[in-house]
Amino acid sequence: MNDLSSAPRSSPLLSSLDQFASEKLSELERAHLRRTLAETEREDGLWITRNGRRLLSFSCNDYLNLTHHPAVKKAAMAALQRYGAGSGASRLVTGNHPLFADLEARLARLKGTEAACIFGSGYLANAGIIPSLIGSADLVLIDELAHACLWAGARLTRGKVVAFRHNDVAHAQALLAEHRDHHPRALIATDGVFSMDGDLAPLPELAEMARHFDAWLISDDAHGLGVLGGGRGSSFATGTKADIPLQMGTLSKAIGAYGGYLCASRPVIELIRNRARTFVYSTGLPPAIAAAAIAAIDVIENEPETIARPMQNAIAFTRLAGLPDATSTIVPIVIGDEQQTLAASRLLEEEGFAVIAIRPPTVPAGTSRLRLTFSAAHPANEIERLADIIRTRVLGR
Ligand SMILES: Cc1ncc(COP(=O)(O)O)c(C=O)c1O
Repeated sequence: MNDLSSAPRSSPLLSSLDQFASEKLSELERAHLRRTLAETEREDGLWITRNGRRLLSFSCNDYLNLTHHPAVKKAAMAALQRYGAGSGASRLVTGNHPLFADLEARLARLKGTEAACIFGSGYLANAGIIPSLIGSADLVLIDELAHACLWAGARLTRGKVVAFRHNDVAHAQALLAEHRDHHPRALIATDGVFSMDGDLAPLPELAEMARHFDAWLISDDAHGLGVLGGGRGSSFATGTKADIPLQMGTLSKAIGAYGGYLCASRPVIELIRNRARTFVYSTGLPPAIAAAAIAAIDVIENEPETIARPMQNAIAFTRLAGLPDATSTIVPIVIGDEQQTLAASRLLEEEGFAVIAIRPPTVPAGTSRLRLTFSAAHPANEIERLADIIRTRVLGR
């Protein structure tokens, strides 16, 4: 038997791994696609400190500034004091804190469904929900620009995954007509609000098509909850509730906390609790996070003026910048070239704004962009100044 204790510290296996990593990083660097972590301190849900500078952030998804809301922090601190930092186990073991049932009831009420199930994050939600419902013989039809975690969930099914052109219902319908009969079950997956483009999915039309083909529709409402449809999200954006049996979302954006959720019928939620591997085999959320999310939902349900403000700010910005009216709290400024996008982001940083450059693979090649997000508390004079700089010095108009 080999004496492993005397093996050289830098074994060929380790050095080939490091070599692989270094080469990959160099490739990314050459293509201006390497990412780095910039230490960022968020002081109040609006201003951040980065590289020693105080910047006004237009890059947080904290649309209602609830990460720092006094009532949300107070609820989290009280729960932290009383119940501790973590939940200690999977919810199916000993980690099922009573606050979770309260939060699920509040989410189900807000979304108009029978039940809800919370997850460790939005990413974990999609990675767990989709393979619980769809198997290797089945079909997933997915918008080509759907979020990475919907794609991850789709690929985990090992079924047939077919992309339809972005927001193109006619294309989705043609693909369903071609493929539906060859699969026992079918799922249609889309963002409600597209995270990098800010446009809305045609949810009522997709819902009608799904019904016609007996396909199940899942919408990811990460960027709709709290800001669209009177706070109830993108499935309520037209004024009536779109018929979406699987309404998924996250607690990490307008809710200002952390975690993911699915709102659906009682049997679907019960099945998810039995089958979703990211639920069954993962520790429950910290109870303090559930307490924070419940307090955030109180704000969303009781402060209509606050929840209207992010959209008002986004629309004010687009009008001042000479862009089409914002349709959500996300406004992309597509520049195309990676280097130019990074330069535009740096220029805005020099002016005191944090506006992050988004590059492939997060967005398709050739569509690098500035992605701006608007919150309730952005001051009007700063929105005006930002719009002026973007119009004149980024867009050159
Ligand atoms: C559309 C969409 N879905 C899901 C997620 C993931 O949510 P979470 O951050 O809770 O994992 C995000 C966040 O980046 C998102 O933008």
